[in-house]
Amino acid sequence: MTEKIYIFDTTLRDGEQSPGATMNLEEKVQIAEILEEMNVDIIEAGFPIASNGDFEAVLEISKNINNSTIAGLARAKLADIDRAWEAVKNAKSSRIHTFIATSPVHMKYKLKKNKTEVLEAIQQTVSYARNLCSDVEWSCEDAGRSDIDFLYKCIELAIRCGATTINIPDTVGYTLPNEFGSIFKSVRNNVPNIHKAILSAHTHNDLGLAVANSLAAVQEGARQVECTINGLGERAGNSALEEIVMAIKVKKDLIPFHTEIKTEFITKASRLVSSITGFSVQPNKAIVGTNAFAHEAGIHQDGMLKHTGTYEIMTPDSVGLTKSSLVLGKHSGKHAFNEKLKELGYDFGDNALMELFGRFKDLADKKKEVFDEDLIALAGDRTISYNEHIKFVSLLVNAGSIEKHEATVSLEIDGEKKSTTSFGNGPVDGTFNAIKSLTKTHFKLKLYQVHAITAGTDAQGEVTVRLEDRGLTSQAKGSDPDIIVASAKAYINSLNKLIFKKSKSMSNEISEIEIGEA
Ligand code: KIV
Ligand code: ZN
Repeated sequence: MTEKIYIFDTTLRDGEQSPGATMNLEEKVQIAEILEEMNVDIIEAGFPIASNGDFEAVLEISKNINNSTIAGLARAKLADIDRAWEAVKNAKSSRIHTFIATSPVHMKYKLKKNKTEVLEAIQQTVSYARNLCSDVEWSCEDAGRSDIDFLYKCIELAIRCGATTINIPDTVGYTLPNEFGSIFKSVRNNVPNIHKAILSAHTHNDLGLAVANSLAAVQEGARQVECTINGLGERAGNSALEEIVMAIKVKKDLIPFHTEIKTEFITKASRLVSSITGFSVQPNKAIVGTNAFAHEAGIHQDGMLKHTGTYEIMTPDSVGLTKSSLVLGKHSGKHAFNEKLKELGYDFGDNALMELFGRFKDLADKKKEVFDEDLIALAGDRTISYNEHIKFVSLLVNAGSIEKHEATVSLEIDGEKKSTTSFGNGPVDGTFNAIKSLTKTHFKLKLYQVHAITAGTDAQGEVTVRLEDRGLTSQAKGSDPDIIVASAKAYINSLNKLIFKKSKSMSNEISEIEIGEA
């Protein structure tokens, strides 16, 4: 049996730090449940001191999850550590993850601490955390740009103070694989007590090297890898869980390790995270992109028909991607609909199912055949859990080569139906102006993106909208065979999320903090 690589998922913490990736408590619990189902070893459930919402989500996940360790993040501050412990202490297995920056640029400009002060902070906070919890992870933020001799001192001290996992992050995605790997090698050779802790790699994808760097770290002694579903995360994202896990599985001859991840849940987890965050997965994304197992070129198709091994290094089944011939239409019943959703990886409660079934029937009335992609969009177009402050009712637009485009929008706002007509430079602009006027909001539109879900002129359009207000952002999708209606739905979904996010941040005693203040 090969040695195990522990998978530490940080979708709910570093992943949620992606601008616009809002998740509410119920959604975070849902994601934690699928991570547990996949057999993720450690789930970093949040940054409890960052907001009351974060604290409550970590608390709730700690109560609900039985098989994975639950970690809470804390800066090198006693109040952070207390809050993290408060949130994770009821978990079956809990971890405090505390960190401080060790690079010259972070110490000088962000922390305004010299080396001695950083060492003192490590001594104080790691010992404090270890007194509360037997499982303590310590991270040297921006290790990729830290002085290696100082890193040895910090790591040795953290282990002496009780850290059981030492996480080495390439916080800004700056290193190359051989460079990052050699940090692990040197740490193993130069830190005398290193055998007392598990070494962990945490990488960011600024140069597109996050996964390669994590694998290089594994080759040089890392036994824990920190990653996120779909590679979600700050800026260009973190190492993608699905890529790490499948690389280790497919290349077991050259990477003689194993993870205990049940890879057949990968597709389900990817779709869930994408639908909750409103972040689409690029079609050519490794493992989980819609084209990852598609073969277009004739020569490839010919090879595939003769032997799938000609062009596939892993099977779609191994990542939970099942192709079914069952296409739904307007005569399909609730049972077939539910079965199909389950096959696609969704499991809805009765109320949500009834609501979705109604929307499916409306869609089937407009479209002859409803494909898997349509259902994924339908299931993903979900704002149910945001208490739908604002609901779409109807839309009528004047489009074409006329001068001013007119849009009449009807919404239900807190149960009250309201309508208005606005003009704009195009039907989408007119529609958004009408929504803004009805909701009396003036948020900045940061992203507007449209794509067709399937082929054909009756295909549904899927629209992504990102809104921003005073540093807070939210992103959401909407789908409909009419792309102007899809645009209105996406705008409203994003609006509901942003209103939720704003109310959450205003009700916090400790307002949302940026990890950069650490
Ligand atoms: O990238 C980073 O350095 C982090 C730490 C908090 C581990 O996310
Ligand atoms: Zn990070």
